[in-house]
Amino acid sequence: MQNAIAGEVRLTLETLFTPYTIRGVTVPNRFAMAPMQRHKPSDFIPSREHAADYRARVEGGIGLVITQGTTMDHWSTSSAYARLFPPAYDGWKACVEAVREAGGHIFLQLWHEGANREGGFGPSGLTAAGELRGNPFTKDQIEEVTDLYARSAEIAKAIGFSGVELHGAHGHLIDQFFFAGSNKRDDEYGGDLAARMKFGLDVVRRVRSAVGDDYPIGMRISQWKGGVYDIKPCPTPDDLKAFLTPLVAAGIDVFHASARRFWVPEFEGSDLGYAGWVKAMSGIPTIAVGSIGLDTDMQSSFAGQIAKTTGAAGIAELERRFARGDFDLAAIGRAVLVEPDWVNKVRNRLFGDLRSELFTDEIRSTVVTRTYTMPANSA
Ligand SMILES: Cc1cc2nc3c(=O)[nH]c(=O)nc-3n(C[C@H](O)[C@H](O)[C@H](O)COP(=O)(O)O)c2cc1C
Repeated sequence: MQNAIAGEVRLTLETLFTPYTIRGVTVPNRFAMAPMQRHKPSDFIPSREHAADYRARVEGGIGLVITQGTTMDHWSTSSAYARLFPPAYDGWKACVEAVREAGGHIFLQLWHEGANREGGFGPSGLTAAGELRGNPFTKDQIEEVTDLYARSAEIAKAIGFSGVELHGAHGHLIDQFFFAGSNKRDDEYGGDLAARMKFGLDVVRRVRSAVGDDYPIGMRISQWKGGVYDIKPCPTPDDLKAFLTPLVAAGIDVFHASARRFWVPEFEGSDLGYAGWVKAMSGIPTIAVGSIGLDTDMQSSFAGQIAKTTGAAGIAELERRFARGDFDLAAIGRAVLVEPDWVNKVRNRLFGDLRSELFTDEIRSTVVTRTYTMPANSA
């Protein structure tokens, strides 16, 4: 692993297994399952296998599941994965029940790809990498999509999800508005940071008014964008604060600070990672993510590099940062994807039992196309 851990590794893991409350929802410990696409049912309906997958992670020690990015029910969205639309409500309910029965909580990640897909719609039709792949939304369409988030959050609450996470990261729709490289609008939705944030802030305010004051709303955010890595749209702590403060005022309860490697210092002069700075600059609950327990980030992993476990030393680094208050929860992606009981192994200090290597094909194989359907009236 690239971060140096000086001296003896001393683990005080217990603190990671204390409950934590986000706007009235108490999760049993500090481990979240990172949102990850699972399977591709031909009818876009989450299958029994989705529910079983989520249950297995909670039985394996995860306290909070954040679902895979889930497309909302609108002409401007499309993805090959499970969706939030009426035929899928029972399937999603089964996922909620599976997680609850196992003692966990589950947030639904609301996702809109924007102009990332060919012919899609976004602020300017541009991907974060500046590629013209789609079309710009009209102002009326932006209004429509803003309401779509509110309606979808209302549906998530009615289905029984404990909260929602708005995907505002990785160069997807909300982030396409935030990021100057993909937002070239010259109306009130584009221009300086305040204008580029208008869409995201409108979404948050409308979601808050739709779900009420007692329901957690999270937002995933990132400096990096799909196809554009090692950039810093917020180059200083003050810029980060200017970005986060209005989101908190609009109604965000928890930030999910997505980094490629959780231990890499975000700004000069401190070893705080991205999550540490997000928590420090926002003052609200924050989830860290990015190569926890692994030596290789997701992009390298998808590019074919083998991800190796960082074992006891990696967990010690997680615990060190958590214990000094850098963040409140830790989201685990690939490690729990291939090893559902990863958290329990960590809790029991069975570091030698952790899988030593994760292979690209194995990670990819969890999201392959399958053609099964949840039979009618089955839970
Ligand atoms: C197969 C796979 C699917 C993913 N799908 C999503 C997604 O739907 N939404 C999202 O925000 N991030 C997604 N991610 C990113 C993960 O949530 C996480 O940020 C990333 O894998 C880094 O965590 P890790 O290093 O623990 O794997 C995905 C990652 C993988 C490996």
